[in-house]
Amino acid sequence: MPILTLESTCDETAAAVIADDGAVLGQCIATQESLHERFGGVVPEVAARAHLERLLPVIDTAITQAGVTADDLTAIAVADRPGLAGSLLVGVVAAKTLAVAWQKPLVSINHLHAHLYACQMASGQSVYPAIGLVVSGGHTSLYHCTSPLDLEYLGGTIDDAAGEAFDKVGAMLGLGFPGGPAVSRLAGEGNPKAHAYPRSMIGESGYRFSFSGLKTAVRYTISPPPAKEVSADHLDRQAKADICASFQAAVVDVLVRKSVRAIKQYRAGHLIVGGGVAANPALRDRLREASEKHAFRLVIAPPELCTDNAAMGAIALEKIKRGEFAGLDLDITAGLQR
Ligand code: KG4
Ligand code: ZN
Repeated sequence: MPILTLESTCDETAAAVIADDGAVLGQCIATQESLHERFGGVVPEVAARAHLERLLPVIDTAITQAGVTADDLTAIAVADRPGLAGSLLVGVVAAKTLAVAWQKPLVSINHLHAHLYACQMASGQSVYPAIGLVVSGGHTSLYHCTSPLDLEYLGGTIDDAAGEAFDKVGAMLGLGFPGGPAVSRLAGEGNPKAHAYPRSMIGESGYRFSFSGLKTAVRYTISPPPAKEVSADHLDRQAKADICASFQAAVVDVLVRKSVRAIKQYRAGHLIVGGGVAANPALRDRLREASEKHAFRLVIAPPELCTDNAAMGAIALEKIKRGEFAGLDLDITAGLQR
């Protein structure tokens, strides 16, 4: 019997219908990229209003695609944390309303745990125990995971998230929003050694990350001080590509080094990697090389499960197996939760 999963933590409105064996029977994702592009970042109020308009048609599409009716569903699951308050509220209120109207149990989903669960979905066998790396627009975090639902936070960014740094570099270079995919494409044409950018905290023993110094270094390459405004108009395509490649190499170096260190410290057999930045081809290649060199198994979420989606809400099935349901008093937990 299938479940319905909802995702509205940031700027994608998504729903999926998932069978009890984890098969995704139907899903729909409405992206808001075009709405936020002119602001150069996600505007929370705009995101919440767009979720409100889109969520019901998105649910309808997922259910129709799956060929089921409300009667067939056994539970309604929703990402209730972490994320933008207004965005989360739309999903949680919709899920609670459907749970009451259709008399179904409610299940809450931690969005970050779901990003990592995308790896379990892609792998034929258990990936636990594992070190989990979540690299997204809002998070850069390492976990020690003993099951899909048991995650110990090891450390994360103290300033910008990796995806946020990609987006800001993309914006400074005039590459549009979100910058991650555009920066990663242009990096393919550039020289990663053109600029010696900082690898902050790479030698630190813990699992903290910092990308704001790197972002500032990129800013100074584009518009050296004392320029107050950043403009990349004077740079040709090759110069931009070199900046992208050098920036990307710095991010990837730090992510790979810290992940490998965690794998060794915790003697975890697997490294699992999820979140939007996990779609980055350079990161995927370097992680693959590291897994061969240091002999650990690597599962990176497939690109379509990296950026926000409701299919990874299949993690709700694990909660149902444990009998972990939410009450109708379910509230959102916004912010940059671990
Ligand atoms: O997981 P996600 O869809 O949303 C959050 O939960 O934050 O991640 C979105 C982030 C954005 O910052 C986007 O620029 C980045 O993932 N991203 C990438 C790539 N594709 C998406 N960053 C680098 N390279 C990519 N290919
Ligand atoms: Zn996400």
